[in-house]
Amino acid sequence: MKLAEAALAARLHAYAPHSNFLVGAAIETQDGCVFSGCNVENSSYGLTVCAERVAVFSAIAAGVAPRTFREIVVCAAPRNADAFALTPPCGACRQVLWDLCGNIPVVLWGLDGSHATYQLADLLPKAFDATHLLPPA
Ligand code: THU
Repeated sequence: MKLAEAALAARLHAYAPHSNFLVGAAIETQDGCVFSGCNVENSSYGLTVCAERVAVFSAIAAGVAPRTFREIVVCAAPRNADAFALTPPCGACRQVLWDLCGNIPVVLWGLDGSHATYQLADLLPKAFDATHLLPPA
């Protein structure tokens, strides 16, 4: 699966000197273009950006048009692991993905090729989004 390969490759670029937890993500646009991201940590820990957000922001920054997405694959594991439990996106990434991608499939990918797919709406029920900013009709 090309998205999984991209996520695994991106994971190896993770800058994670503080957690040693390496995450890679790859997102596919409606047109079949793939953008990847890794987590980028900071010594001021709260400034760390997750792999999922780097991937989707990269796609937006590249100017993809339309800004519509098919699927995201996420692969996370500690630096020296050769197997690790499938790891779902954090809450902040779920919110960002919901806003920018809607109810796409989120594929959790393991280093050993194991995987599981969830719809984003199941990971983020009753999501807040732009519709809640509108005044009542
Ligand atoms: N991390 C991600 O990249 N994605 C997630 O959805 C969860 C957490 C990163 C942030 C930090 O660099 C490390 O994993 C440990 O939390």
